Amino acid sequence: MANVHQYEVVVVGAGGAGLMAGLYASKTAKTAVISKLYPTRSHTGAAQGGIGAALGNLEDDSPEWHTYDTVKGSDYLGDQDAIEFMCAAAPDVVYELEHMGLPFNRTPDGKIAQRRFGGHTNNETGKPVTRACYAADRTGHMILQTLYQQCIKNNVTFYDEFHVLDFITVNGAAAGVVALELATGELHIFHAKAVIFATGGHGRVWEITSNAYAYTGDGVAITLRRGIPAEDMEFFQFHPTGIYRMGILITEGVRGEGGVLLNDKGERFMDRYAPTVKDLASRDVVSRAMYLEMKAGRGIGGKRYLHLDITPETVNKYAALDGRVRPDGSPYTVTGEEILKKLPDIIDFCKTYLGVDPVSQPMPVQPTAHYAMGGIPTNVRTEIVIDENNTVMPGAYAAGEVACVSVHGANRLGTNSLLDIVVFGKEAGINAAEFARGASFQPLPDDAADFTRQQLDALRNGSGKERAADIAREMKEVMFDHVGVFRIEEGMQQALEKVRELKQRFKEVRVEDQGSRFNTELLNTWELSNLLDLAEVTAASALARKESRGAHARDDFQERDDKNWMKHTLAWLKDGDVELRYKPVTLTKYEPKKRVY
Ligand code: FUM
Repeated sequence: MANVHQYEVVVVGAGGAGLMAGLYASKTAKTAVISKLYPTRSHTGAAQGGIGAALGNLEDDSPEWHTYDTVKGSDYLGDQDAIEFMCAAAPDVVYELEHMGLPFNRTPDGKIAQRRFGGHTNNETGKPVTRACYAADRTGHMILQTLYQQCIKNNVTFYDEFHVLDFITVNGAAAGVVALELATGELHIFHAKAVIFATGGHGRVWEITSNAYAYTGDGVAITLRRGIPAEDMEFFQFHPTGIYRMGILITEGVRGEGGVLLNDKGERFMDRYAPTVKDLASRDVVSRAMYLEMKAGRGIGGKRYLHLDITPETVNKYAALDGRVRPDGSPYTVTGEEILKKLPDIIDFCKTYLGVDPVSQPMPVQPTAHYAMGGIPTNVRTEIVIDENNTVMPGAYAAGEVACVSVHGANRLGTNSLLDIVVFGKEAGINAAEFARGASFQPLPDDAADFTRQQLDALRNGSGKERAADIAREMKEVMFDHVGVFRIEEGMQQALEKVRELKQRFKEVRVEDQGSRFNTELLNTWELSNLLDLAEVTAASALARKESRGAHARDDFQERDDKNWMKHTLAWLKDGDVELRYKPVTLTKYEPKKRVY
């Protein structure tokens, strides 16, 4: 028998979106936040460079420019109603975080400091604008700590280290979740009127990634198994600057502060690919340029990495060439001391992992799998929608990286993920609590935990002919090689076939730890089943989209095709196959144009 708990609202995940949702839902509804991690270990803590909001603290800016940049950055796949909502809400939500106590860096006159980031522009000049509000290079970490403190202050109920494994639905509506308590191995049913998924992304599908080990796509996988489609899964962002071979994020804030990318000849190659904004073009553009440089033999020493240089000598040289000035009109220059103060964590990472000091040496970097633009489909109110007609599933919500609302479309702008989690986390909390006020509990089925038990039993009782670690490695390699920055029909087909073969082999896996307490082997193996499902859906969605748009760049279909493909993919996992359907992009006032940076 499983333990049964009853809450009006259950939030799954305790990163920025989950904490914001929990904070707001618990103001008016009996709420529980369930997390497989201790909340402050959530992946939001890894976001470094800033949260986007057009505060205009250092120069002219406006939410409308932010909106247009986001639409353009999305390569016109983002839903414009959702983007307008998010960018308009940004200044207020940043001030709200400030008033909660978030220690933002400051301008000399005491305002929230802002820095440049990729794709954020002054819409009149096309030049980069300072829009990223930051706390050194620990902005996500500070958001997580601040929100967690607020939750504790407001007596939000947490179930830490409870791993949600299934979504209970009754009569087509949300009715709760099933979770395994890590410390005991016992199953718990959380009976709820409303469920909010805020479980983050799935970068662990790929070999080189900036994502934490816990980023295994649980929310999307669980809902896929319950008949809910996944939207736009072919769009997965590669951040240009991960530490070579390790993938650990080196914030775009480095380039915002004046750092430049250099090839083996010492050329600032982004001059050629994005003459106006150069190193601060959107991430898809920069990652592709890096691949092309490496393919042309201009990687450092002919290898598959390039240099990211933030040494004062290099920054000052290129700032002078660009004519970059400070807000008071004086030439833009930096000192080693300033770099150390603004980017302490990445300097620490490079010293620790590479023995490289970025204040005096360039950093070896390569594109790293970073962010899922796709996920559980929702509308602007964060309600989960289950088909191409946007039919709402009563009581079901999703927010943050797990969701596809869709504000990022085919490519997300840096700093918009932290914005997304706080804006839509808050929406989810408010809307789920309001739903719960007018709803009754669905009757809980007797067999609510059976499907979970079956899944776990299969992992405990497999033949043991296969090892999970081998399957994981093979999946990551084939996805990195063939469903990565550049794609082509044969490669994606090969990846899809390989993932399907791996799914068959996965049935032969048996976990060695047969105990119940802290059985992380069992849970990690279950997580691998999620990654395999998401890899399959990603490869199938990518193979079907015969165009290049944002992060989906095909060698065999190099142009964006608005006539046939300006639409969202919806993918269902059905009977061992992937069924694809499509729905239109919501346009408000921004007509698609060719992107020029
Ligand atoms: O580069 C960064 O600091 C990452 C930020 C983001 O993904 O928004």
